[in-house]
Amino acid sequence: MESRRASAQLMATDVHTPPGTGVNSVRPPGPIYLDHHATTPCDPRVARAMLPYLEEQFGNPGSRLHAYGWEAERAVDEARARVAALLGAEPDEVVFTSGATESNNLALLGILQACRQPRRHVVTTAIEHKSVLEPARWLERQGCEVTVLRVPSDGRVLAEHVRAALRPHTVLVSVMHANNETGVINDVAGIGQVCREHGALFHTDAAQTFGKLPLDARALGVDLLSLSGHKVYAPKGIGALYVGPRAAHGRLAPLLLGGGQEGGLRAGTLPVHQLAALGRACEIAGAEMHAEGARLLRLRTRLLTSLRERISGLHVTGSLDHRLAGNLHLGFEDVDGEVLIERLQHHVAFSTGSACMSTSLHPSHVLLALGVSEDLANASLRLGLGRFTTEEQVDAAAEHIVRAVEGAHLPSPC
Ligand SMILES: Cc1ncc(COP(=O)(O)O)c(C=O)c1O
Repeated sequence: MESRRASAQLMATDVHTPPGTGVNSVRPPGPIYLDHHATTPCDPRVARAMLPYLEEQFGNPGSRLHAYGWEAERAVDEARARVAALLGAEPDEVVFTSGATESNNLALLGILQACRQPRRHVVTTAIEHKSVLEPARWLERQGCEVTVLRVPSDGRVLAEHVRAALRPHTVLVSVMHANNETGVINDVAGIGQVCREHGALFHTDAAQTFGKLPLDARALGVDLLSLSGHKVYAPKGIGALYVGPRAAHGRLAPLLLGGGQEGGLRAGTLPVHQLAALGRACEIAGAEMHAEGARLLRLRTRLLTSLRERISGLHVTGSLDHRLAGNLHLGFEDVDGEVLIERLQHHVAFSTGSACMSTSLHPSHVLLALGVSEDLANASLRLGLGRFTTEEQVDAAAEHIVRAVEGAHLPSPC
């Protein structure tokens, strides 16, 4: 009952205009939202872009004989061009999907399905999202050789790690751009170069970096790149896979067959309203990314400084230097993780593991892979700051975290 009332309250999200900005903002009435790696609120400007395609412009872009179809097709083309512009790519290199999970599956399974070599080897890492690791395990069960790289405690995958794992028959390397738990950014440009020299294809899961960091797929040496709308203030259920020239022309097999949409690589009627939203989200990200990144870094520094001053035994998980501006992943020594969660969750929306495992008490595979102890992993918080996070919220969250950590301290052994 209690939780139903709380969720009804959350539905009454307050859309307001911060003074002087002229830009709509989102301020949900529930706990302070610091879980932007799990998902972002739909930017009101993005939500507005979607409406015409739900109401009067409801056509199917595949309908070639009338104006409804033409307008839908125009909207799809515009969205494709906007996504491509944020990747330094050509529009016809963008394949729309339902999100990064599907894009990751398409990249791994599609490349290996199309590859006719007798021996096939894939390299990935222990800190990837499950939507990469599970397809990799499936491929292994089908007889493909798979190397899952260990990652050092700073959480950063480097070119030399990948180079050491390559074999003559390595077909594909899949290393995420930034990790969704630690926010640590991998050396994707270096890895791209190594893959190119070796002749292997390179896929990166950029769900956490697309729209947050400048991306140029070609300059990074990336052949396949996954992205997701709901991480960039667009709705859930929309994403894309960038397919560069080396991965095109029959080197990628589709997972969904049917109407031949997306150049035959992903059948299904395109969700025009979601695409219009994704396109608008890209346009906004392109214009605001730099200022937003700088603002988030200031807020994160403020939060970390405040917590460090007041909490002893605080650990930052992974490299602080190579990290998404909005991410702070913290572990607390001698703290009962369950009590910490209970004391904090009604004040601050955060995550402990990755979002899909947030009800599980098992430490996340990412933290375990980095060598974080089970106790510290269970007493960790992933805080994700975002576009609508304010300084007041950061200060209030720091206060709640300090109090929750104090109340969750384990009795010291005598
Ligand atoms: C790094 C990473 N990859 C993939 C996904 C899955 O994305 P989607 O929810 O769009 O399927 C996520 C989302 O949690 C993610 O953070």
